[in-house]
Amino acid sequence: MKTAIIQKFSEVYETDNDVRVFFAPGRVNLIGEHTDYNGGHVFPCALAIGTYAAVRKRSDRVVQFFSMNFEKAGVIKTSLDELTPAADGRWTNYPMGVIWAFKERGMELDCGFDMVIYGNIPNGSGLSSSASLEVLTGFVLKNLYGFDVSNKDLALIGQYSENNFNGCNCGIMDQFASAMGKADNAIFLDTATLDFEYAPIKLDGAKIVVTNSLVKHSLVTSAYNDRRNESALALKMLQTVIKCDTLGDLTEEEFDANADAITDEVARKRGKHAVYENQRTIKAVKALKDNDLELFGKLMNESHISLRDDYETSCPECDILAETAWSIPGVIGSRITGGGFGGCTVSIVKDEAVENFKEIITKTYEEKVGKKPEIYVVEIGNGPCEIK
Ligand code: GLA
Repeated sequence: MKTAIIQKFSEVYETDNDVRVFFAPGRVNLIGEHTDYNGGHVFPCALAIGTYAAVRKRSDRVVQFFSMNFEKAGVIKTSLDELTPAADGRWTNYPMGVIWAFKERGMELDCGFDMVIYGNIPNGSGLSSSASLEVLTGFVLKNLYGFDVSNKDLALIGQYSENNFNGCNCGIMDQFASAMGKADNAIFLDTATLDFEYAPIKLDGAKIVVTNSLVKHSLVTSAYNDRRNESALALKMLQTVIKCDTLGDLTEEEFDANADAITDEVARKRGKHAVYENQRTIKAVKALKDNDLELFGKLMNESHISLRDDYETSCPECDILAETAWSIPGVIGSRITGGGFGGCTVSIVKDEAVENFKEIITKTYEEKVGKKPEIYVVEIGNGPCEIK
């Protein structure tokens, strides 16, 4: 990839002197969905796929972007003096948001840069192409301009820019998974405290398979922000009868005993998901430690059902993918992953069942939806790096 992106850089900007190449990964979440803004736990891992940047400092205040994924858009030229989001929601709002967020933290760039981007995460698939672009931008700024900022901070800066520059009230999971990724490990993160531990994913005899429904989701335009508000309402009503700071503080029993205080029926369902999903995530990580992959898979399936029925962030296409997967021998668990309303499912599939899984999923999806899903067997990768 390094040679191809440098080649493109020299075509677009007519030089490749001093160009450096960086990478930041996408992520897949194994379990713990819509818990990260509810003070709960998540269990994502970084992927070996992600976003690359070839970049070189300039001597003036101009900032130029070119994406190999949207070549027709050509070079997008802007400046360090234009740190406001473009109204057309163009992709450069993500890196510009990160430059803005660095400035907010007192880390101001003294000159602009030229950049070429290439991403191999299918966009809108729920595998965090935007978080990977944010973490990548932060990592580039840290290395190119010498800012003293940790990878954990890069995650927080990415989230801050997405919340305040791009208008999506996302939690910390995606940026954290991208910035803190570790090959062959998932990250068990307590989003209330940002305490985390790496959990080795030793799926003896099984693979992580991601299936793309090809239904594109957009977090900003979807009902994501509504879900946040509905969960907040559930919490507020519960707080009138039980002491808690977040939904992540509660056990299932505490929720059930106090659920009547949530007089809004929709908010009650959202609250139930947030509490139960957090507890499922804790149980799933324990199951993995105990080598009980079967229980891990069962919890993944329950997570999907809860997202489908209580949180209502699945979609008919992803239901078809997960429900078909459950019926295939050798599938340990399957669920929708990420923000929802489209995107991908994640499944744990025994090695010997992968080919059959691909065949049955493709056939059933084609019959019911009229298109072929994309299916990837994924590897768990590291966090951001410079490619020397
Ligand atoms: C999106 C957000 C995350 C998280 C997930 C749902 O990916 O960016 O912060 O809320 O949805 O688990």
